[in-house]
Amino acid sequence: MSVARVRGIELAYEVSGAGLPVVLLHGFPFNRTLWHEQVEALQERYQVITVDLRGHGETTVTADAPATMKEMAEDVAALLDELHLECIVLGGLSMGGYVVLAFYRLFPERIRALVLADTRPQADTDEARIGREETAARALSQGMQTIADAMLPKLLAPTTHAERPDIVARVRDMVLNTDPQGAAAALRGMAVREDQTELLRKINCPTLIIVGRHDTITPFADSAFMYHEIRGANMKVLEGAAHVSNLERPAEFNHALNDFLDALEP
Ligand code: MLT
Repeated sequence: MSVARVRGIELAYEVSGAGLPVVLLHGFPFNRTLWHEQVEALQERYQVITVDLRGHGETTVTADAPATMKEMAEDVAALLDELHLECIVLGGLSMGGYVVLAFYRLFPERIRALVLADTRPQADTDEARIGREETAARALSQGMQTIADAMLPKLLAPTTHAERPDIVARVRDMVLNTDPQGAAAALRGMAVREDQTELLRKINCPTLIIVGRHDTITPFADSAFMYHEIRGANMKVLEGAAHVSNLERPAEFNHALNDFLDALEP
C-alpha cells in the first residue's frame, strides 16, 4: 500500500503492473480490495491503480462535512498529479461511478476511456436523500453492523448468497471495516451529488457499461439509459450478478474489461 499526501488528507492507493494506466474506484461502503480480481487479471498488461476514496479503507476520514463526489474526484486528480499520470482509463462501481462522472465533468482531457459499472447518472430524489440521512445517523449511532445487515441482501444476487459464502463474507467485511464517520460523510456526499444526465451526451471517449442483471440498487434500466445517451458506448449485462457484479462474476467482468481495453488504440 502507498500513501499520497494530497489536499490535506492521506490517500491510500496501490499500483500494480505497467502499461496504460487504469484507475479503479470502489463503491460504498467498500475499499480498494474490491478490485483484487481485476488487478490480477489486468496487471500483466496495464498499470492498475486502486484507490481508497476519502473516508474509506486506509484513507483519511473527513467527518466535518459531506464527502462530495467532486471532492473525491479532485482527490483522484491530485493523486494522478503525484504519480505524473496525465491521461488514464477511469472506472468505477456504483459510488465509484458517480465519482467517475464527476471526474469527467471536471477533467475530460485526462480521460482515455471510461468504465461505468453498476452505477447511474441521476442525482438522488428527495426521498432518497432522506433515506441517506437516516442511514448516516444510524451508522453514527449504531455502527456499521446495522448497515451491513440492511445492505447485504440487496448487494448480492440470491445465487451469490446461496452458493458463495466467501463473497458474502468479503463484502460484509468491507462494510464492517468502513469507519462510520467516513460512511456518513459519503452518504451525505452522495445525497448532494450533481445530476450528470446532461453530461452523458458530451462524453466522447470509449465507454464500457457493465451491470449485473439482478442489480436493484442501480438497475439495468439506468445502464440502458447511459448506453443510449453515450455515443458509441458498449454494454455488458452480467447474468447471475446483482450490484457487486465484479465480485459476483469476475471472469465475465474481466473478460468484458480486457476486450474493451484491448480495443483501445495505443
Ligand atoms: C454503492 O454501492 O456505491 C452505493 O450503494 C450507491 C448508492 O447508494 O447510491
